[in-house]
Amino acid sequence: MKLLVARLLVGLLVATATATTAPPTGGSGSGGETRSANKHNTKHGFTHGQDVLILDSPSHDFVGDTQPYRFHKIVRIPCAEPFCSKESFQSLLQNSMAVVSVLSWTSKHVDVQINTVVDPASVLPFLSGVSVLVDDVQDLVDREMNRLALSQAAFASLDMESLFAPDVWFSDYHKYDQIVAWFKDLSDKFPDLITFIPSIGKTYLKKDIIGIKVGSSVNADTKPQFWFHSGDHAREWIGPATVQFLVHNLVTEYASNPTLLDSTELIIVPLMNVDGYEHTWSGNRLWRKNRRPIKKDFFGSVGVDLNRNWPAHWGEGGSSSYPFSDTYMGPSAGSEPEVQSLISFFKNDNHTRLIGAIDFHSFSQLILRPYGWTEERAPDEKHLKTAGDGIRDAIKRVSGKKYVSEREIDLYAASGTASDWFYDEEVQEWLPDRRLYAYTIELRPSADEANGANGFILPPDQIVPTGQEILAAVKYYLDYARKNPLKV
Ligand SMILES: *[C@@H]1O[C@H](CO)[C@@H](O)[C@H](O)[C@H]1NC(C)=O
Ligand SMILES: [Zn+2]
Repeated sequence: MKLLVARLLVGLLVATATATTAPPTGGSGSGGETRSANKHNTKHGFTHGQDVLILDSPSHDFVGDTQPYRFHKIVRIPCAEPFCSKESFQSLLQNSMAVVSVLSWTSKHVDVQINTVVDPASVLPFLSGVSVLVDDVQDLVDREMNRLALSQAAFASLDMESLFAPDVWFSDYHKYDQIVAWFKDLSDKFPDLITFIPSIGKTYLKKDIIGIKVGSSVNADTKPQFWFHSGDHAREWIGPATVQFLVHNLVTEYASNPTLLDSTELIIVPLMNVDGYEHTWSGNRLWRKNRRPIKKDFFGSVGVDLNRNWPAHWGEGGSSSYPFSDTYMGPSAGSEPEVQSLISFFKNDNHTRLIGAIDFHSFSQLILRPYGWTEERAPDEKHLKTAGDGIRDAIKRVSGKKYVSEREIDLYAASGTASDWFYDEEVQEWLPDRRLYAYTIELRPSADEANGANGFILPPDQIVPTGQEILAAVKYYLDYARKNPLKV
């Protein structure tokens, strides 16, 4: 009851504010990559007192709330004149306090998760043709959690060997502890190909972030290195699952085709945001950020967006300075323990042969290349585009799935991202003779295929086909980058 009153109160405030101010939420981007342009915050004179307006954002856990999405719907806003430009959509979404998260963004439509405590008709009055894709997001989450409870119970009855059998393992998603045990077991089975690093650093809640190195002893001290990481955003479960599939297939294929691991070393962080990931298994399935409580935040907001916190033009647009936001950039560049851990592992003395890096996210099926923070053309745009388009084509050959290859800024602005950091000044200072093939890849589903569901809740029968298309893409990518290193 108390909860309902709180929600209604918030709803009322939101509705009032929507009518009178242009608040700084809003967003763009796929895979729930919402944003808000900080320039606009200042422009609209958004004061701290108004923070209360977004109290009911998904970043805020109501104490004891076991149904965080009960008042949420997913709606599709068609792209019709005059709302076709990125700028108009952004401004539209900035003016709607009911928008919780932007789920996907295409030239045809934008899908957004809204809080229906605010009547959509009252907050999006100038839109016609808004269609409701998901009437009750909580039902969707409940169904998925019930399904998972059954599959987890079935897994619990198996011994480790049976659980780790590929047919069983890749039939569903797994919890953090199981993923760690699985990687450990794989490294025991392939000791000459995998180095298991139990901890590259700790999360805010003192969980170990594991690292994996994959490569044969052939050319061990000379071959080029590539970096992969995933799980920055807690709810994007297909990312870590795909990385597991990649590692498994590369090591099991080695006996018949040793070329790849003889000529390449892979340095991998399969699950970055351990705290957030564990949180998504507790019922808050659509959690995105890490789990650090933000000190001095009046509303008790939790979490920083780990893909807006990297020291790469941090805070220069496409992220939020408000702790309640899903794209909160954090109090300073690289402030989060998870980002710090990855950076120090990346700059390890043994990692001086890196020539490429990919950060796996979901969803929307995109291959995004630098930059995200500026319209400026990357010095290596030609090669980055060729390789990005080649990744797209390799995927299509395997599964027929259409991924879009583009510059991140052409989709939406984002600063403080991992892929810009890989490409940007800080890594260039550390490895001054080169730049890296840096990408963010958004995995399945496409914005259209997520229709009527939630793209983050990808059915588990999609794990293997996603893995297969990305395995082909990665093979193409490693080969292209090795043959065309980006020299400065
Ligand atoms: C580099 O690799 C060697 C051999 O695996 C290891 O002994 C050493 O600790 C590593 N150095 C760093 C800084 O991790
Ligand atoms: Zn993401």
